[in-house]
Amino acid sequence: MPAPTHITVAGPAPYDVVVGHGLLGSLVELVGSGERTAVIHPAALRSIAHDIGDGLPDAHIIEVPDGEAQKTVKVAAYCWDMLGRAGFTRTDTVVGIGGGATTDLAGFVAATWLRGVAVVQVPTTLLGMVDAAVGGKTAINTAAGKNLVGAFHPPKAVLADLNLLETLPRTDYVAGLAEVVKVGFTHDPVILDLIEGGDVTSPQSVHTRELIERAIAVKAKVVAADLTERGEREFLNYGHTLGHAIEKVEDFRWAHGEAVSVGLVFAAELSRLAAGLDDTTARRHRDLLETLGLPTSYDGDWQQVHAAMAIDKKSRGSSLRFVVLDGLAQPRMLENPEPSLLTAAFDAVRSE
Ligand code: GLY
Repeated sequence: MPAPTHITVAGPAPYDVVVGHGLLGSLVELVGSGERTAVIHPAALRSIAHDIGDGLPDAHIIEVPDGEAQKTVKVAAYCWDMLGRAGFTRTDTVVGIGGGATTDLAGFVAATWLRGVAVVQVPTTLLGMVDAAVGGKTAINTAAGKNLVGAFHPPKAVLADLNLLETLPRTDYVAGLAEVVKVGFTHDPVILDLIEGGDVTSPQSVHTRELIERAIAVKAKVVAADLTERGEREFLNYGHTLGHAIEKVEDFRWAHGEAVSVGLVFAAELSRLAAGLDDTTARRHRDLLETLGLPTSYDGDWQQVHAAMAIDKKSRGSSLRFVVLDGLAQPRMLENPEPSLLTAAFDAVRSE
């Protein structure tokens, strides 16, 4: 097996994303010298969380519900209670093991306990490895919407053990590829060439590690320059304005990556109409996502989708903002495009 790769996220408190195979044994080094750890995990990962806890100092295992159901203030309060009972101090470390929902929750609990304790993230999904667990965004959901309460709280380290991907249902893995495709279009077109060069729809694919490392490297660079999303971090939301709206309108029954996939086709068409993106690159979005088996069409109601986009946290004040491409790997923000351009782009994602 090749040695692990360390991708550093620079900033006031730099940290490494460690990528490789069979890395769980090195978690104890990343956790460091605190007296206690709290391992937050969803029910589905009970056995692996207990194994991990066995290798860590005074580990308190905190089981939470699977999926988005764990990202509530009630579950966060349960975790705070458990930390209180464990006598968790400022020098102790939270470990979040799971998909994006768990790393968001664990990060939020760590960000708020004693105004911030260390968290080491162990993403188990592709989406978590390339996006959610890297970059310090943490959040829970409220009745008003997804991720509306949270904090920027960069982790102490992220351990991306690629062996964990083998346990993932294939549809989850493929949904995570939508975020990889996204950074291919916004920042690193080599990703697109690799995806077009062979079947990448399983973690055993020959290009898996390179794709993941490339996507993490982009994220690391962008987040180091703009942790709090005042500038270029917003470009990582390419495809997400419509994607989030679809998730909301569909009551979160769509996988995030699948909604983003449709959002990417919409954003490409908007880019073609409003930013002069060439036809070939716009078409490449749909072709590539279809090859991966990701959805590229959505027949929902435009009024509902439009209303959901308007209250997304990606809008600012009353303006509706989209990431568009002037060309391949040339992202920029587009504010309040003509309504006719939005409906034309939405027509492009309706099934023929
Ligand atoms: N998922 C986009 C970001 O972390 O900024």
